[in-house]
Amino acid sequence: MSIQYLGFLLLLLQGVLACDHGPLAAGRRSLKQAAPNVPPAERREVYSNGRLFDITHRVSPTLPTWDSAQGLGPFLTLVASIKNGSNVNVAQIKLVGHTGTHIDAPGHFYQEYYDAGYDIDSLDLDVLNGPALLVDVPRTSNITAEVMKSLQIPKGTRRVLFRTLNTDRHLMFQKEFDTSFVAFKADGAKWLVENTDIKFVGLDYLSVATYDDGGSSHLTFLKNRDIILVEGLKLDNIEAGLYDVHCLPMRLLGADGSPARCILLK
Ligand SMILES: *[C@@H]1O[C@H](CO)[C@@H](O)[C@H](O)[C@H]1NC(C)=O
Ligand SMILES: *[C@@H]1O[C@H](CO)[C@@H](O)[C@H](O)[C@H]1NC(C)=O
Repeated sequence: MSIQYLGFLLLLLQGVLACDHGPLAAGRRSLKQAAPNVPPAERREVYSNGRLFDITHRVSPTLPTWDSAQGLGPFLTLVASIKNGSNVNVAQIKLVGHTGTHIDAPGHFYQEYYDAGYDIDSLDLDVLNGPALLVDVPRTSNITAEVMKSLQIPKGTRRVLFRTLNTDRHLMFQKEFDTSFVAFKADGAKWLVENTDIKFVGLDYLSVATYDDGGSSHLTFLKNRDIILVEGLKLDNIEAGLYDVHCLPMRLLGADGSPARCILLK
């Protein structure tokens, strides 16, 4: 089932093929003997002695995607492969812009903004990089105006990562899309725009708006083209508080959304 297991099976298969007779097989065998014993790659969430947190979800076939029970599925193929005789491996990836940890541009919800070029390439990198507050949203509610008020986010705070029940429920780790995720209600989005200085809105599932919101929260957030929405963040096992966030989407011309690599620095 896992990729590692598949890799193991492929290795086994190779081993069987290498038992063929003939000069080629002998050549392969000696090459194999010469190769060092490669330890499996390490995959980490925290770097730099606990100072740097990767808050990006790994793009893998089991990542949940909007309205799908199947998850992302295969997204990567090798268009050149050493196993097939090429001298390099070359992966080709195919992803919807709103896959996993990703960013929404104003053109995602407004055709006139899309036409005017408000795509991922035009986003303000200053908003996406700088001091950020990681806050815990009360687990009993979606993000309403009342909840926003209760969070008492200090004036002048420009970047906020909202951690919710979604993180406790490990929703981003389940391939089946879950419509009951926590996010902003229309009045919560309106309250944020009218009463705070927040320009970076980060959330821990695939949308900043609740499933039944119908797009009104996105329209509220993106209307002035000064707020950037970062969705699908991985906020597990990090203390609430003040950090530096760095979030970099790909520089894609004409894209209304893009996967991003996001990190927090203590
Ligand atoms: C290798 O070649 C075979 C036969 O042409 C093809 O079916 C397979 O997809 C190729 N694999 C890669 C990784 O290129
Ligand atoms: C948030 O709203 C969704 C509807 O989109 C609902 O299913 C869910 O139960 C709500 N969560 C909480 C904690 O109120």
